[in-house]
Amino acid sequence: MSEVAIPLPFEARYSLPPIEVIDDSRAEIRSKQERIARLKEERNAVILAHNYQRDEVQEIADFVGDSLGLSQQAASTPADVIVFCGVHFMAETAAILCPDKVVLLPDLRAGCSLAATISAAELRAWKARYPGAVVVAYVNTSAEVKAESDYCCTSANAAKVVRSIPADRPILFVPDKFLAAAVAHQTGRPNIIPYPGCCHVHRTIRPEQVLRMMEEYPDIELLIHPECGCVSSCMARVADGTLPSERTFFLSTEGMMRHIGNSRAEEFAVGTEIGMLHRLRKMAPDKLFRPVNPDAVCEFMKTITLDRVLRSLEILEPQIHVPQETARRARLAIDRMLAII
Ligand code: 13P
Ligand code: SF4
Repeated sequence: MSEVAIPLPFEARYSLPPIEVIDDSRAEIRSKQERIARLKEERNAVILAHNYQRDEVQEIADFVGDSLGLSQQAASTPADVIVFCGVHFMAETAAILCPDKVVLLPDLRAGCSLAATISAAELRAWKARYPGAVVVAYVNTSAEVKAESDYCCTSANAAKVVRSIPADRPILFVPDKFLAAAVAHQTGRPNIIPYPGCCHVHRTIRPEQVLRMMEEYPDIELLIHPECGCVSSCMARVADGTLPSERTFFLSTEGMMRHIGNSRAEEFAVGTEIGMLHRLRKMAPDKLFRPVNPDAVCEFMKTITLDRVLRSLEILEPQIHVPQETARRARLAIDRMLAII
């Protein structure tokens, strides 16, 4: 798998919102949640929340899930209004799939450092260097980038999407280099050309943290999101036997949920954003979940608060709109993905 060298002033591409500390009492939280529930009925709205959302936001959602599950829910909801408790590219995907609905993103600062690593112009320039290549874009991209792509994918289906592409076609995989490496490993495809992007949170989940955890808790089961900085090293260690293959799993956030439901293990090391732990603990209160990196917090996801959800439902703003022609082209890539899975 060859790497491209593209100048990427990573940190200059996004600005991190500060994380607001909410010190509401349980009674205040409950009262806000009840007001949201009432307003939701009045507006005929549905609330979709990503697994990395604040605990109290996850609690008011009609559906909590990963990027794939959230797009599927958006595509099939009969509601008139979708309140997207997630980040901008997720709300854009909902707006593309549901052009007749009002899609709300309660805080417009909810961006994504990974999506910010590539623009449509950069993708066009990259494609021009590889005529005949197929472009697979991770869902963590803007609508404009999706519109320049042949296929969309999520962490739950990236390998499946790549396997559906004829083996002799080179694949430009954007923008996550760690996910690209994981998919190359899983599919054995030598012709995946990764774009050098990454997520500022997941890249901090390092192999040394994983190894320390395995040493400290020898029976623990390891769940790693494929965006993590440790993914290639962990896959290589599974292959050479330094990490136990029967206890090391590379999974999307929803894949982790499904895995816990079927696993007999009592203790899990979770390599992803720590919001995930709330759902895992709620689903399996008798099991123990330890974050591989307790500092892995996505500031963008945490901009969504109960107050902002409430306000957004009150004023039906901020709305996410995708220009018609961009949406049409982006939808082709999304629909190709949905047809494969
Ligand atoms: P999932 O699709 O696994 O939920 O991941 C989305 C994401 O943004 C990970 O950082
Ligand atoms: Fe984007 Fe990373 Fe936050 Fe996921 S965790 S939304 S990839 S910045």
